[in-house]
Amino acid sequence: MRLHVADHPLIAHKLTVLRDVRTPSPIFRQLTEELVTLLAYEATREIRTVAEEIDTPVARTTGTTLAEPRPLVVPILRAGLGMLEGMTRLLPTAEVGFLGLQRNEETLEAVTYANRLPDDLTGRQCFVVDPMLATGGTLVASIEYLFERGARDVTCVCLLAAPEGLRMVQEAIGDRADVTIVTAAVDDHLNEKGYIIPGLGDAGDRLYGVID
Ligand code: URA
Repeated sequence: MRLHVADHPLIAHKLTVLRDVRTPSPIFRQLTEELVTLLAYEATREIRTVAEEIDTPVARTTGTTLAEPRPLVVPILRAGLGMLEGMTRLLPTAEVGFLGLQRNEETLEAVTYANRLPDDLTGRQCFVVDPMLATGGTLVASIEYLFERGARDVTCVCLLAAPEGLRMVQEAIGDRADVTIVTAAVDDHLNEKGYIIPGLGDAGDRLYGVID
């Protein structure tokens, strides 16, 4: 597993506003999209390309274009949806799959409740988007799901990560495949309820409001 912490003043600024408890949902959503676009730029550094011959108005030249098969973006429902627009803005030709994983608030384990993914992900570059890498349970379950369908090249884009979650992904995935985590920051620790500290609270609630 590789970890890339995106170190940029604009990322740090946007993350600070996201963390602030006073930031209302509409601003939180907009900033999440902007932040994800910046993270997506880092996350796509290794995206596969092919050379393409084109004509400019004045000369023939060799350019670069994204290779087939198209990359797959997989938002983890529900909070990952808030990151989708930011990803597809940078990767408009990507396909989008969905994975619904929810953590059981008592056991903190990930339970699958929905999935809409291509059956065969062999040779596909997959970009999993989930705002909070907390215990790591959801992310490990998502990566395993993609592995079962043949994917071996997975990049996870998270707004924030906890050291405990990073350790869990490292232990569960090891060097079995090419897995990269791209995040805006690695925070201090998880509290007893599994929240990232200092974190930004419940990402789904901050994006979409509290569902009772
Ligand atoms: N999920 C969240 O939304 N926030 C956390 O801090 C941890 C998990």
